[in-house]
Amino acid sequence: MGKQKIDSNTILYGVFGDPIRHSKSPIMLNRAFEEAGINAAYAAFHIKPGQLRSAIDGIRAMQFRGVNVTIPHKLEVMDYMDEIDEGARVIGAVNTIVNEDGRLVGHNTDGIGYVRSLKEETGIDLRGKHVLMLGAGGAARGVGYALAMEGAAHIYIANRTRDKAIELAQSMSSFTMATGLGLDEIVDIVGKVGLIVNNTSVGMHPNVNEVPMDTSLILNTTIVSDLVYNPMVTKFLRESESRGVTIHSGLGMFIYQGAYAFEYWTGVSAPVVAMRQAVIDSFNT
Ligand code: ATR
Repeated sequence: MGKQKIDSNTILYGVFGDPIRHSKSPIMLNRAFEEAGINAAYAAFHIKPGQLRSAIDGIRAMQFRGVNVTIPHKLEVMDYMDEIDEGARVIGAVNTIVNEDGRLVGHNTDGIGYVRSLKEETGIDLRGKHVLMLGAGGAARGVGYALAMEGAAHIYIANRTRDKAIELAQSMSSFTMATGLGLDEIVDIVGKVGLIVNNTSVGMHPNVNEVPMDTSLILNTTIVSDLVYNPMVTKFLRESESRGVTIHSGLGMFIYQGAYAFEYWTGVSAPVVAMRQAVIDSFNT
């Protein structure tokens, strides 16, 4: 597919965040538009706190078709939407805006993106599964909701701050069985779970030698998944793999949250192979 030229019919897209210059979304989404032959352009916008409302008004005024929203704006942006879909409402965060002729609809593609990548890359069937999630922050909330929607039977949430794990478990208990734990209680339940997900930032560059739990506890029948994608294979995944488990890296979640956004905006199925390649290439340059 030849490179798209920007002309007077080009439809604009972007990502709003602070900081934003490190974002891989423009590389990934522009490649997707190019691959699909869609006349569109996607740029990164550095939107500082206090400027978000004006930036959102700009989407309407300039008729952007869609925008991704990232740190620190995922919560505040909810105040400026005309409609918020159910998943985003439950998770309490919006990362994707679709502009329906001036009507802005907020979605959250992080959790569903995570689950789609987990299923495609590991073949896991989540129905009836017991899951251990490490961490109880925003990422854990999205992933937990998506796992519950896929039929996970019991979600254990272990967190450094135990109270936050208990709070998140309580708020998830209308969707599935959920229990909050401290990190020292992992040992009691780790034998029951078929999936362990690291939703914390432990192991992320530059702290690449940290792991979120003791991997000697993990049975080789478990799938181990990490939301961290820098490095692509964390120490947690490397240690787990050496114990014979199937591993799943965080890059997939990033690719598929973008794939869902692309599909909401265009109605066209996302060229995920090319999108993944674009991101991997950008890491290597
Ligand atoms: P995000 O939106 O990316 O999930 P967050 O809401 O700040 O970010 O949540 C970060 C999660 O990583 C939290 O569960 C945090 O644990 P606390 O609730 O105890 O703060 C966890 N986390 C971060 N650094 C950690 C560390 N060094 N050890 C253990 N857990 C850590």
